[in-house]
Amino acid sequence: MSNEKQVDPGRRVMLAATCAAGGVVGLATAGALVSTFQPSEKAKAAGAPVEVDIAGMAVGEMKTVEWRGKPVWILKRSSEMLASLKKTDNAVADPKSERTPDMLTPEYARNEHRSIKPDYLVAVGICSHLGCSPTSKFAEGAQPNLPDDWAGGFLCPCHGSTFDLAGRVFKNKPAPDNLEVPRHMYVGDKLIIGKDEKGEA
Ligand code: FES
Repeated sequence: MSNEKQVDPGRRVMLAATCAAGGVVGLATAGALVSTFQPSEKAKAAGAPVEVDIAGMAVGEMKTVEWRGKPVWILKRSSEMLASLKKTDNAVADPKSERTPDMLTPEYARNEHRSIKPDYLVAVGICSHLGCSPTSKFAEGAQPNLPDDWAGGFLCPCHGSTFDLAGRVFKNKPAPDNLEVPRHMYVGDKLIIGKDEKGEA
C-alpha cells in the first residue's frame, strides 16, 4: 500500500509506513521538526529526511519507511536478537563494517551492534548485489533456503544472499557488502532518517 502524499515545496512532507515483518501497513506523517531543517540544495533535490515515531514499537517489531524512494527498516531487536550477532560475527564477510564505511556505515554505527542504540537496527532494505529487497527471516533454526544453524536475519529472494540482524552479509554470497545504514539520529522519541549531527545526507 503506498502512502505517498503531496509535496509542498515550502514544507517538508514525509512518508512513514509501518511494517510488520515486511508488510507495509502504515501512514504518512509530517513533522514540525523536519520543517525546521535548512538543507543544502543538493539534499533538497535528493529528498527530505523522514521522521518516525518509534515510541510505541514492540520488541521484535519492524517498521519500514520510505526515504528517497528506498525502503528503510527499523527493527527493535530483542536481547536474543542482539545476542545472535555474537554468533554470526565469524560467519559474516565484513563483521566490523570496514568496507566503504563512508557510504555504508556512518561512524556512529561502526560497532558491534551496527547502530546508535543497540536495540534499534536502522538499515536500507536493498540488497548490495543487484538491488532486490531482502525478506525478514527472524525465526531461528532450519528452514528452506537457510542453514540449519540460522540465527535470524534477512534472506534476499533473488539470489540467496543472507544478512544477519545487523544487516551484515554472510560470507560466500553474491552480495558483496553489508546493507547500508543511512545517516540518522534520535530526537526524543523520534528517529530522523537522512540527517545526523553533521547535517543532511
Ligand atoms: S539481488 Fe540480492 S542476492 Fe542478488
